[in-house]
Amino acid sequence: VRVFVPIDAAALSVGAQQVADAVAAEAARRGLAITLVRNGSRGLFWLEPLVEVETPAGRVAYGPVAAADVPGLFDADFLAGGAHALTLGPTEEIEYLKRQERLTFVRCGIVDPLSVDDYRAHGGWKGLETALKLSGAEIVEQVTQSGLRGRGGAGFPTGIKWRTVLNAPAAQKYVVCNADEGDSGTFADRMLMEGDPFSLIEGMAIAGVAVGATEGYVYIRSEYPHAFRTFSRAIELAEAAGFLGASVMGSGKAFRLEARLGAGAYICGEETSLLESLEGKRGLVRFKPPLPAIQGLFGKPTIVNNLVSLATVPVIFEKGWEFYRDFGMGRSRGTLPIQLAGNVKRGGLVERAFGITLRELIEDYGGGTASGRPFRAVQVGGPLGAYFPESLLDTPLDYEAFTAVKGMVGHGGVVVFDDRVDLAEQARFAMEFCAIESCGKCTPCRIGSTRGVEVIERIIAGQDRAKNLELLDDLCTLMLDGSLCALGGLTPYPVLSALQHFPDDFDRPVAAPP
Ligand code: NAI
Ligand code: SF4
Repeated sequence: VRVFVPIDAAALSVGAQQVADAVAAEAARRGLAITLVRNGSRGLFWLEPLVEVETPAGRVAYGPVAAADVPGLFDADFLAGGAHALTLGPTEEIEYLKRQERLTFVRCGIVDPLSVDDYRAHGGWKGLETALKLSGAEIVEQVTQSGLRGRGGAGFPTGIKWRTVLNAPAAQKYVVCNADEGDSGTFADRMLMEGDPFSLIEGMAIAGVAVGATEGYVYIRSEYPHAFRTFSRAIELAEAAGFLGASVMGSGKAFRLEARLGAGAYICGEETSLLESLEGKRGLVRFKPPLPAIQGLFGKPTIVNNLVSLATVPVIFEKGWEFYRDFGMGRSRGTLPIQLAGNVKRGGLVERAFGITLRELIEDYGGGTASGRPFRAVQVGGPLGAYFPESLLDTPLDYEAFTAVKGMVGHGGVVVFDDRVDLAEQARFAMEFCAIESCGKCTPCRIGSTRGVEVIERIIAGQDRAKNLELLDDLCTLMLDGSLCALGGLTPYPVLSALQHFPDDFDRPVAAPP
């Protein structure tokens, strides 16, 4: 019997290791033969540690399981899917999961993350096999036709980025994966590296073969030690099985991969400072142009893509670009792995086609606030994303629809707040975050963010409100227009949205001094 206990960092943080140990010990004590598989998470975090058992009728789930529950589970014959107070029924029938459209995360939580064969048994390596039969230009064309856009946040068409690299003449080219997932409330990159690392390896190999890049790097944030460990091991296994190395799947085309660890700077998620960091230098933002696609890592043409973009490429070749393109709305094609977090009852990963509304996400999937208090605001797209009030909850997840309401989809992080949130305080925090994380290269961001904190503090203290509000507006315009990169350039988003949608928070009576 196969028993699945996740090794995902989120599951480990709530005791999955103790549960795995207890399952192994209890099976041994009872003389029962089991195979313990350490899978990734299904992304139903409020049910972690989620234990699954493989039965002839499919996988049955139990959760959240504590180590102390394990003997009781054996007593209830859970190895045969027996009923218990923690029974959740067939995993695939859990509403939260059943109503998803998992394309990028199709194997996450299902396969053994470090089994090349399990990956193959679930459709893995087929995309690469197909791509190897095509020319570079054909691969790039199919990625373009699929409509895939950059999942790091900017939504730039992936195929067009690849075409620029393909057409840039150079003896050496690179593929770089941005796994410096620094946005608040996001965890998709981490989950995938821990739960289905071969999908990223396959996607990067396809990218390499497409543009003629023979080397790839994955830049993983230092806060992800589990992901780094799993992913590094996955590279070794893929190499040993012939999916990476001097001749990818016997094609004669070379592609090698290395994982690198960052050092804890948010700005190293910006593509050019990431490249500086990879080259061993301080993470300072570079001027663009030249684009990394023309002069990237070590000055060579480089594909820099977010992890989710790259890990989505295999399905485009496994199922066909038309299949992928047929999901979504408008110019936002395919699916988005949305990360539901903050003050919400059921936090986790929801992969759905573009077009799902924030209300569906927060109310249907999330089940409302965890505190049970009224909803007040949601921040979408990380610390530089806008805060939306109730009245904007019917906005569909779509790059253009979000731009129209002065927000951004970003990397798909959705952080929910109840009525206790103070949006003036959140606006101050946005400026403070920018001041702390600024690389210091340009003045609007380096100085502007510090001045921004001061101005907002004066507004909160009720000092000369009208004048300071005008000053803040002016400062935000300057940062938007004059910053060199997205950190300084997008910090005004949370500030201005807080001012626009929650003006009362900036105009509270100031307590009289004692
Ligand atoms: P950008 O719009 O300047 O560029 C997007 C991408 O397209 C870049 O990789 C750029 O090199 C590439 N590109 C542009 N024109 C090209 C061409 N003609 N040929 C080939 N490639 C081309 O955006 P940027 O500054 O890279 O990213 C900003 C976004 O990052 C924001 O929208 C925000 O959502 C997101 N962001 C994501 C974070 C995360 O943790 N994932 C954190 C902070 C911001
Ligand atoms: Fe550096 Fe900030 Fe300027 Fe970006 S906006 S280049 S982080 S100083």
